[in-house]
Amino acid sequence: MKPLIVANWKMNPQTLAEANRLFNSVKNGVKNIKKVEVVICPPFLYLFDFLSRWIKSQILKLGAQDCFWEEKGAFTGEVSPTMLKDLGCKYVIIGHSERRALGETNEMINKKIRAVLKANLKPILCIGETEKERKEEETKKVLKNQLEKDLTEVRILSNLIVAYEPVWAIGTGNFCPPKEAKKVFLFLRKILKNSLILYGGSVNSQNAADYVKKADFQGLLVGGASLDPKEFIRLVTNVAKT
Ligand code: PGA
Repeated sequence: MKPLIVANWKMNPQTLAEANRLFNSVKNGVKNIKKVEVVICPPFLYLFDFLSRWIKSQILKLGAQDCFWEEKGAFTGEVSPTMLKDLGCKYVIIGHSERRALGETNEMINKKIRAVLKANLKPILCIGETEKERKEEETKKVLKNQLEKDLTEVRILSNLIVAYEPVWAIGTGNFCPPKEAKKVFLFLRKILKNSLILYGGSVNSQNAADYVKKADFQGLLVGGASLDPKEFIRLVTNVAKT
């Protein structure tokens, strides 16, 4: 099983020209790396552009950062899993902590996960504890609770991917030490059976390989470092060496 590296571009970059430059640099930089699967999750508008032009290249896979739970209808501003599937999208990030902070509930996340699986796409469910919860040694309890609520009535199969993203580690440079992350990985593995488990939170080219090699994660969810093509290519190269 190849490690999976998912680039979450979030709401970046600001122009299509920049997005194309970033995408092309990454594509060229990783095209000879066969030991890692790289997925780019750009904003919807660029996703459409990349899917229509690059879906056949197979060098990079593409994913969305969110989607709605209904297939069609009067839902202004939303994008359905069916639409993503039709364009050739493979993955969808669901329940990122930045979306939860904007008001996304466990119930909404649960509906999204089920809709994504129904459309034969792979959901990447993000879970993680806050700094306060970590200090109070509540991490395991919080993660178990999130999984129970987000995955109500979901069959835990290998097409479900879960990303452990400690909220305190996201975008802070303060990554979770691989030793600590490994303990969480082992805890999640017991619950999640065959699902892939990724780590995310201030991953960079220096620490990336440790999460795969030392902490046994099957891949990574990368935010900030995925916006710098040189850094991201180094990161993928380092993981490929593990
Ligand atoms: P980061 O973001 O790598 O910038 O910490 C990770 C994420 O939010 O998925």
